[in-house]
Amino acid sequence: MTILDGKKVSALVSKRVAQRVKVLQERGISPALAVILVGDDSASQVYVRNKILACKAAGLRSEQVILSANSTQDEVLAVIDNLAARQDIHGILCQLPLPRRINEEAILNAIPPEKDADCFHPVNVGRMSLGTARVLPCTPAGIITLLKEEGVEIAGKNCAVIGRSNIVGKPMAMLLLQENATVTICHSRTRDLPAVTRQADILVSAVGIAKFVTVDMVKDGAVVVDVGMNRDENGKLCGDVVFNAVAPKCSRITPVPGGVGPMTIATLMENTLALAEKRLNI
Ligand code: GUN
Repeated sequence: MTILDGKKVSALVSKRVAQRVKVLQERGISPALAVILVGDDSASQVYVRNKILACKAAGLRSEQVILSANSTQDEVLAVIDNLAARQDIHGILCQLPLPRRINEEAILNAIPPEKDADCFHPVNVGRMSLGTARVLPCTPAGIITLLKEEGVEIAGKNCAVIGRSNIVGKPMAMLLLQENATVTICHSRTRDLPAVTRQADILVSAVGIAKFVTVDMVKDGAVVVDVGMNRDENGKLCGDVVFNAVAPKCSRITPVPGGVGPMTIATLMENTLALAEKRLNI
């Protein structure tokens, strides 16, 4: 079994971004990402902090806009409109989840597609499905990069994705399909889930439940990608997969932390850069 090292590969991606940032800076452009955080969800605060730190490492400018949990939807929309109008901001993202009173769809629709660093705008989701997108959703695209950089072949493989969220499950399936895999999307209503996942050469779990993926669900020699960010009974960060039991059965597996998480952030850097390059028609 080999570990799919997201920390190592994300550092490589970040270095490549930093090189391309230099090219833009020579042309007078300093690519910048604006991150909006609404409320005081502690996990979101950590994610946003890591995104800002990653910008620094990749040579990107960043701005944070932190709004209180009782901000109105109109206040968030006003912040987005302001960032959308600014020439010196190339990418915008609004950290999810939002407080319940705020309509997520209205917020994601308000970020202009040409500044949509997450690829969550319906126009960009459509382009992704057509295979014509300039940016791709960070977590699924980061997983594809990790698999490719680590030499995992995707074409022709049986892939199973557990979870059908708009952020991970659905776009993950779409990107694997674009890599010519045969893809099955599994979810809470899937009948005999272990029978389905045992067919998978590549198994991606994006469920958000600790210890969800057990050894009986995994094919011998499978590549297992764990998108989960959960806490175990001791409050320790863990994924969806029972790592110690499953790992010996795999050919490759992502750890949590140090697997998918850093790749998500590295892809956000790539997306921000790509949006800045697009404006210069590079
Ligand atoms: N919340 C969990 N994942 C993400 C992500 O990729 N982008 C944003 N904006 N919020 C998230």
